[in-house]
Amino acid sequence: MKEISFGQSAALSGPHLFAAIVTRNEAGQANIMGVSWFSFVSMKDGKLLFCTSNKGYTGGVIQKTKKASLCMVTEDIKEKVLQCCTCSGSATNKIEAFGISLDTYDGFDVPVVSGAGVCWALELSDSMIAGDHTIYVMDVKKTILLEDKPHVMAFDGYKRLATV
Ligand SMILES: Cc1cc2nc3c(=O)[nH]c(=O)nc-3n(C[C@H](O)[C@H](O)[C@H](O)COP(=O)(O)O)c2cc1C
Repeated sequence: MKEISFGQSAALSGPHLFAAIVTRNEAGQANIMGVSWFSFVSMKDGKLLFCTSNKGYTGGVIQKTKKASLCMVTEDIKEKVLQCCTCSGSATNKIEAFGISLDTYDGFDVPVVSGAGVCWALELSDSMIAGDHTIYVMDVKKTILLEDKPHVMAFDGYKRLATV
């Protein structure tokens, strides 16, 4: 037994879930960020939550537009989604910069990443600032399975994506 830091525990408690949050700002520009801190919240009235950094771009867009899509990431798209974790949508048009293709579907106000697995169309239900992140509770408006392929998880303290 030894005491470890909270930061170390984040790495050691992995692998962690991983998905792509897609948003669209008021001008219609789409953006993608990778997220590990997400969870199911309510099954009957479908709700999910995710936590985004108060320094990031995505949270501010959701506060304004109230909408997002969440996409499980397959091996086919993991490299491109990982690139979306390296910079901010406030400075970079990631869709153009990384050549990402998006698909639109009925019931989704925000597009999904082509080649993703399970995708959820989400609307903001509630948010709460929690330290350096904000918790977004999102109503699930529609759920689809784009590609029936295994999704990747985050290993080694969010450094590596692989299927289990
Ligand atoms: C595996 C992995 C998991 C991540 N999980 C989160 C997360 O749960 N919350 C968060 O705010 N950032 C997370 N990030 C970092 C964001 O994806 C990154 O800061 C991104 O550039 C934010 O984009 P934005 O500023 O366009 O919103 C993660 C990064 C990686 C590589």
